[in-house]
Amino acid sequence: MDIDPATLTARDRHLLLTALVVPRPIGWISTLDASGRPNLAPYSFFNLVASSPPTLFVSIGQRGDGPKDTLANLRATGELVVNVVSDHLTAAMNASSVESGPGHDEFAFAGLEAAPSAVVRPPRVAVARAHLEARVVDEVAVTDDDGVARNHVVFARIVHVHVDDAIITPPHRIDMAALAPVARLAGTAYARFGEVFSVPRPAVPEGEG
Ligand SMILES: Cc1cc2nc3c(=O)[nH]c(=O)nc-3n(C[C@H](O)[C@H](O)[C@H](O)COP(=O)(O)O)c2cc1C
Repeated sequence: MDIDPATLTARDRHLLLTALVVPRPIGWISTLDASGRPNLAPYSFFNLVASSPPTLFVSIGQRGDGPKDTLANLRATGELVVNVVSDHLTAAMNASSVESGPGHDEFAFAGLEAAPSAVVRPPRVAVARAHLEARVVDEVAVTDDDGVARNHVVFARIVHVHVDDAIITPPHRIDMAALAPVARLAGTAYARFGEVFSVPRPAVPEGEG
C-alpha cells in the first residue's frame, strides 16, 4: 500500500506514523510554573539529539489554542528534569498524562514523591532510577501548511545526571535489565525491555578505503 500522509485524517496519520517510528523513549518531564508549582507529564516525541554537547529534544503539541503546561513552564523558567520511565512506573507515568489545567500537581495525582534536583529547580520523581536535569537552549515551531504552529520542539542541554547506584556498573555503564526502560509504540501500546544482542561495527575490507 502506498500512502500520502496528507490524505489521512490527523488521527490516522498519528496512529500510522507513531506505529512506524518505534519504539520511542518516553521523556517523563517535570517542570515548575512561574510561581513554583510543579508539573509532570510524559512525552514520547522525545530523544537525545547529541551527547556533545549533551542535548535532548521534546516536541510538544498544542492543547486547543494554547501551550500545554510543560511548554508554558519551559518558556517561563527554562528548566526541566527528564525522569526515566522504568516498567514499574508505567501506571504512574500514564496517570501523569491527565489533560489538566495549569497548577494541577501531577506528582500528587499520580501518588509520586518529589525529590529535589541538584542544579535545576524542578523536582525529580523520587522513585525513578535515573534523571536528566536540563536547561532550555532553543525552541523551534513546527508549522502546518496553514502557517499555524501545531507543535513546538524544545532543545535542552543536559546539565546533571542522576543514576541509582543499583543500576550502574562503574564507572558509567548502565545495567539495562535493571533500568528496565519502557518504550511507547502507538496509541495505548507500550514495549518492555527485551533481548539484547551485540553487533560489531563493520571493518573496511582489505584493499578498499
Ligand atoms: C506515553 C505518552 C507519551 C506522550 N507523548 C506526547 C508528546 O510527545 N507530545 C505531546 O504533545 N503530548 C504527548 N502526550 C500527551 C501529554 O502527556 C498530555 O497532553 C499531558 O496532559 C500534557 O501535560 P502538561 O499540560 O502538564 O504538559 C503523551 C502521553 C503519553 C501517555
